[in-house]
Amino acid sequence: MDAREMKVKAAQVALSYVEDGMKLGIGTGSTAEEFVRLLAEKVHGGLRIEGVPTSERTARLCLELGVPLKSLDEMPELDLTIDGADEVDPKLNLIKGGGGALLREKIVAAASSRMIVIADESKLVETLGAFPLPIEINPFGEAATIIAIERAASKLNLTGELKLRRLGDGVFTTDGGHHIVDASFGRIPDAEALSAELFSIPGVVEHGLFIQMASIAIIAGPAGARTLE
Ligand code: 5RP
Repeated sequence: MDAREMKVKAAQVALSYVEDGMKLGIGTGSTAEEFVRLLAEKVHGGLRIEGVPTSERTARLCLELGVPLKSLDEMPELDLTIDGADEVDPKLNLIKGGGGALLREKIVAAASSRMIVIADESKLVETLGAFPLPIEINPFGEAATIIAIERAASKLNLTGELKLRRLGDGVFTTDGGHHIVDASFGRIPDAEALSAELFSIPGVVEHGLFIQMASIAIIAGPAGARTLE
């Protein structure tokens, strides 16, 4: 199985959790997009669901493939969110935001009764942090916010490069109009403590640590998919 086939496998297993009439949160990224393609086939076969997309990118794909969408304001309580991740630890804590959609992803997951993460096995780690942590910041005063992030992290003995994410010649801007700092702290032994430190900084809008939000992870490898709960 190549990387894409593993993503498809994880998405197929996730689809078996989707029931007729469900209100779904629909994630962002290449793995979530495989899920959207499979979901669209089921919808064309008669499955009735309504979805809330976690990004403009996902919304475009859903519209293109005929997956019915509503806004989170129209449908503020969801049954299930299915989304990818950049890292998954054994307690199902996650790093997300590699695709830049972490704020909407977290809002949608928090509005859902359950979150299922789908990933290939390269995303499974013992301790979060090899993947640079995306931190969404308000563009106002971002130099000051970046200094504050460095100081906050150093209280936990976390240091490393903080890079403002760029896209082409410009700065990457999220669907919410914010910027992203990718923080290469390395191993994050206490994700809760880092989360609290980051939220104490006014310019930090959100961060990519998803702590105790996922209830199931479907991890696909060359031999097939396994489910972690
Ligand atoms: C987007 C995300 C994605 O879920 C994450 O980056 C994983 O993406 P992919 O499935 O393409 O590896 O958090 O903000």
